[in-house]
Amino acid sequence: MSPLSQSQQQMLADNVWLHFFQMGHLSSTGARPTVLTRGIGSRVWDQDGNEYIDALAGLFAVNVGYGRQEIADAIAAQLQRIAFVSPFSFPSLPMIDLAGKLAQITTTGPQSRSFFVNSGSEAVETALKIAKSYQRRQGFHERTKVIARRGSYHGTTMGALSVNGVTEIRNGFGPLVAGARHVPARYRYRCPHCALCDQCQGACADEMEQMVEFENPETIAAIILEPVQNSGGVLSPPPGYLQRVREICDAYGIVFIADEVICGFGRVGGWFATTEFAIQPDIITVAKAITSGYAPLGAAIVRKSIADTFSGDENDKFMHGSTFGGHPASCAAALASIAIIEREQLHERSRVMGDYMLRELHAALDDHPNVGDIRGMGLMMAVELVRDRATRESLAEQKLMGWLSDQLKQRGLICRADDRLEPVIQLTPPLVISREEADKVIAIVADAVYALGRKLGTVPVLHPLNQILQPSPAAAADLEFIA
Ligand SMILES: Cc1ncc(COP(=O)(O)O)c(C=O)c1O
Repeated sequence: MSPLSQSQQQMLADNVWLHFFQMGHLSSTGARPTVLTRGIGSRVWDQDGNEYIDALAGLFAVNVGYGRQEIADAIAAQLQRIAFVSPFSFPSLPMIDLAGKLAQITTTGPQSRSFFVNSGSEAVETALKIAKSYQRRQGFHERTKVIARRGSYHGTTMGALSVNGVTEIRNGFGPLVAGARHVPARYRYRCPHCALCDQCQGACADEMEQMVEFENPETIAAIILEPVQNSGGVLSPPPGYLQRVREICDAYGIVFIADEVICGFGRVGGWFATTEFAIQPDIITVAKAITSGYAPLGAAIVRKSIADTFSGDENDKFMHGSTFGGHPASCAAALASIAIIEREQLHERSRVMGDYMLRELHAALDDHPNVGDIRGMGLMMAVELVRDRATRESLAEQKLMGWLSDQLKQRGLICRADDRLEPVIQLTPPLVISREEADKVIAIVADAVYALGRKLGTVPVLHPLNQILQPSPAAAADLEFIA
């Protein structure tokens, strides 16, 4: 590891354009960017040798952890055998094996087909095109609209962007693809119907059906949603919600697209959120952790009944593709990553470790006046920050998220502090995170949230933090499985 040379610093200032990042900030403030140079397991190091726990898994991607030699070897071996195969004409061996594997581990069925692309946005783009084209092939030329949920994130290419529920990301690029409609997110803590009830009243599913009826069902091509919505801070569906969406789609002839770009490959415990909720969507979109981030890859996994409508004569084929979609090295990386998840039962580990971390987060933060809600599923967790816990008043404050991210990073933790809906700290570490690392993550989050409380004047300047950093004996006992 060596610090950046003068010329690298200059090239970074002049030539690099990071995503969703204000590059001008670097030159105007003279801030030194963090350049990550190495990673092992759940830990990464920057150019100065500083160590961090990466509780963002890169960007919800590195599920099997950093430094897996066998994935690097699988990529190298494939590149040595044949570096490129055109997906317009030829399947590659790893593509065949991967499509078969995905058909086995998803709920779309053993004869589902995978269309491989390079990213989550492209997977969503592909799913939307398949859905619309499928409807036309059935004779439904008016079915062009797509219903998504507010606050959801589905990507940045024009089709995916149009269904995106994050207004500030959608704004400024119009006209977008016509026909996107957005229903409220399923957000139990702030649900206008049942936030204060003991049980969810199912109003979120009713709103979906009302939207379908209001728009006229015969104009709706598809519904797209993340089974557990990441954006907004881990918004899990209530029991029966996804089942209701499936029923609505069946009743009105709508294609059900489950966007599992983040939920998939063990993130929420179990292979996919749709396996956990036992739901069979028509199309599942995946990316990110399909290769654990070792190579770019995405896919739309399509149920046979829909894929078959593209399998008749020459005129039926799907007029869509991209040069690097399903690159053989990426497919080889995916097979190696999936093999590791399977061998080490990381999807199960995600469930157990997620339960542990959630319990410890509650133990550490339940009494904090600025912590409104702590929620999660598997190793996908969120702590929602509020101004006042009793009233649930929002803590929306400019620059709060930047301040909090800095606080967490200074303490050695990379994670997501996000306020697309309400301010949340999101934790989605690699599924291999150790018990010690998990304890450290919780200690750092607690410490930073207490620093926030001191800043806001809601907690005393001196707080007996030591008390809350010890895992409870009950939670520790549960962890024998992953000792
Ligand atoms: C649910 C979901 N869908 C799609 C995407 C887009 O994926 P990508 O950034 O690979 O284009 C993302 C990215 O975070 C996502 O979270």
